[in-house]
Amino acid sequence: MITGNTYGTTPLDPDESDGLLIEISTHSELDVAEQFNIALAELWATGRKHNDILTVKFLKRLHKEMFSGVWRWAGTFRTSNKNIGIEWRGGAISIALQQLLLDVECQINQGIYPFDEIAAHFHHRLVSIHPFPNGNGRHARLVTDLLLMHYHKSRGSWGATMQMPIEEIRKEYLAALREADDGSISRLTLFLRQ
Ligand SMILES: Nc1ncnc2c1ncn2[C@@H]1O[C@H](COP(=O)(O)OP(=O)(O)OP(=O)(O)O)[C@@H](O)[C@H]1O
Ligand SMILES: [Mg+2]
Repeated sequence: MITGNTYGTTPLDPDESDGLLIEISTHSELDVAEQFNIALAELWATGRKHNDILTVKFLKRLHKEMFSGVWRWAGTFRTSNKNIGIEWRGGAISIALQQLLLDVECQINQGIYPFDEIAAHFHHRLVSIHPFPNGNGRHARLVTDLLLMHYHKSRGSWGATMQMPIEEIRKEYLAALREADDGSISRLTLFLRQ
């Protein structure tokens, strides 16, 4: 069983290591490799202006930048169903993303909703579609930040200012996503700035 203390040194299962590009045997080694890859991707993403954030091509490219040093499937859509996410068959992921990106562009152009609310909706719908085999949360948090920054807003804090242990912050994030699943976005909008 994986517990809080042993998680880091727990060996990866064969199915967990499927698609790994580098030699890694434990979860903590994997965390370090992914974090390093993501840090480089953040430099790439924030170091220049991207005018194509709201495109499927950019969403895939960003995922690739974040994970291609570690995973073979980086930047490619999933080809199986998960407990979160839409049915993947029939090109449904690409279609759902195109619809989402069009909606967000309309919402921004119309200027009816506060920008943070648009960003929270975008984040929630993106993780709900769950385009990739893994890394959807980290990818959707970063691309939401990039969207905010592109429109001259500060990036989200995602609970970083909460005086709480990381596990409690995580619980709040997931609770906010579940409320968004039920149609209420306010908790996630707030969480973006907490
Ligand atoms: N009820 C929910 N509704 C929508 N999205 C959810 C829900 N629960 C979890 N998620 C999203 O799914 C993500 C987990 O998916 P995945 O493992 O692909 O991402 P990750 O980046 O590897 O995870 P993590 O955020 O733990 O680093 C969570 O971070 C969250 O964004
Ligand atoms: Mg994951």
